[in-house]
Amino acid sequence: MVSTKIGRLNHIAIAVPDLSEAVKVYRGLLGCIVSEPMALAEHGVTIVFVELDNTKIELLHPLGSDSPIEKFLQKRPGGGVHHICYEVEDVEAAGRQLVQEGARVLGDGPPRIGAHGKPVLFLEPRDFCGTLIELEGA
Ligand code: CO
Repeated sequence: MVSTKIGRLNHIAIAVPDLSEAVKVYRGLLGCIVSEPMALAEHGVTIVFVELDNTKIELLHPLGSDSPIEKFLQKRPGGGVHHICYEVEDVEAAGRQLVQEGARVLGDGPPRIGAHGKPVLFLEPRDFCGTLIELEGA
């Protein structure tokens, strides 16, 4: 088996039914620096970033009618962890390598540009311990 080496944890994404309530929790109760909301129409989400010393938390709220987050929240109305994002040096090469090893990459096309302006891929949760993984390239 040829391994794909992942690097740092870039962020953990949490889907939330009410973005301003979630911001209150992280800014108010938990004392974090929280960004202003950012709409990412291509991904069907509105995001705020929570800065931690060693990583980030992204709070995701559905944007538009066919948002993947909407379906997620239908199953978990109170919100929940949606995905975790690992950094890799070359996201395209990582995707190719994982597919060669029999793992599934979600979607068909090349990596898309993610919330941080970098190329990202999402991996099939059933191949990765039941967790949706986002890989973010350098
Ligand atoms: Co993400």
